Amino acid sequence: LEEVLFRILVVDDQTEVRAALKAILTVSGHTVFEAENGMKAQAFLEADQVDLVISDIQMPMVNGIELLTWIKSKTATPVIIITGFSHILETRTAFKLGADDFFTKPFSYKGILNAIERLLIKSSETTPPENLESLYCRIPIEDFVSSERVQINIYIRLSETKYIRVAHKGDQIPSVKVDAYKARGLDYLYARKEDFSQLVGFNMDLSQVLKEKSNISAEKKLRFLRYTTELILEHAFVNGINPKAFKQAAECLELVLSLITESQNLFEMLEILNTHAEWLYAHSLGVSVYSVMIGRKIGWTQQSTLFKLGASGLFHDIGQKEISKDLLVKGRPFLSIEERKQIETHASRGKDILLELKELSDDILQIVYEHHEDCTGQGYPRQVPSEKIHPLAKVISVADRFCYLAMAGPNSPGRTVKEVIQQMQVHHSHELDKVAFNALKSLCTNAEVGS
Ligand SMILES: [Fe+2]
Ligand SMILES: [Fe+2]
Repeated sequence: LEEVLFRILVVDDQTEVRAALKAILTVSGHTVFEAENGMKAQAFLEADQVDLVISDIQMPMVNGIELLTWIKSKTATPVIIITGFSHILETRTAFKLGADDFFTKPFSYKGILNAIERLLIKSSETTPPENLESLYCRIPIEDFVSSERVQINIYIRLSETKYIRVAHKGDQIPSVKVDAYKARGLDYLYARKEDFSQLVGFNMDLSQVLKEKSNISAEKKLRFLRYTTELILEHAFVNGINPKAFKQAAECLELVLSLITESQNLFEMLEILNTHAEWLYAHSLGVSVYSVMIGRKIGWTQQSTLFKLGASGLFHDIGQKEISKDLLVKGRPFLSIEERKQIETHASRGKDILLELKELSDDILQIVYEHHEDCTGQGYPRQVPSEKIHPLAKVISVADRFCYLAMAGPNSPGRTVKEVIQQMQVHHSHELDKVAFNALKSLCTNAEVGS
């Protein structure tokens, strides 16, 4: 640090915190004043001037939020807020009120010193704070089941340039905290995209994202995502399905999609699905949404599992891009044995296409490969016995059958949930995984459905 001495007021009702801050700041050459609450701080500031205030939030008499409001109404003095982890929500308020930086206890002294340097020494040559939005993805707060440990670091977004960590990988977020977030109007928590994509089973290189050098324009991606959302709502929702569960799963899929569009290769795969046949893309989206719904209904709560279902659903029929469209639209009864075999190659083609991309984890590849295996051991391509089929492939298979029958396509007029479930019950129940099929049935709001 340069030989600049700043006057800093430390406001905290905990003597030890004040003493620790004073010690470290004094060593760095600053002059430190102390106040044990906001009221004392106000009295001090009425009489004297400082270059910086570092204040706790929870204090008797006048608290940190009130003090901050008072200071900002009078001066441009920078204010750093420090707060206990349990009061992290107040930091949002503090941020809106103009706090200049935040630290949660226990904080690192180095972090505080850096902030001071940034706020006071370099303020003459400020560079605009970095926009972090491209580095984070948002996760619906509904997805946080408090009994589960989070598998990655989780953040709250304060602004486009400031995210604060609220849970470490391996922590649980207690339900009271989740409820408190919701009560304050927080609909989303955030994760770093690189952490998140690993969790989902993507191996894509995100360094391009970090440098914002992707070859696909943000505008193009946005347009495609918007179009996709419309497709989901228009085609994938089937009357008689629990709308709340559907909406939740659709949000989960949108998150998966937002990651996929960060990879040029995967994004191109989606576009190819769509250009090969729009209904094929709609079908893939449907399978993705219903797989997530079924997985959740079964009781799977791990985010990695649900997102893997979402991603596998999207790409399960990618092998069909190599099958001629004429063949695909021909109804199954009209296909010759040769043609049927040709179509059935799509499962292994899909696996090979994804293998070459090297951007998806092995289990997603396996799921794609096995989505037409069935529980009688008579599926394709390998006639794998039930116990050897990947458990997520069994879910995809149920969702695939459901979407094929329920959603309008070249070979289907679209059917009601009741009709579809009955048809699946009569003709396919022996092939389908019982647990997954039962979960699908219980997602149907119509009570008469089921056996
Ligand atoms: Fe398929
Ligand atoms: Fe399919």
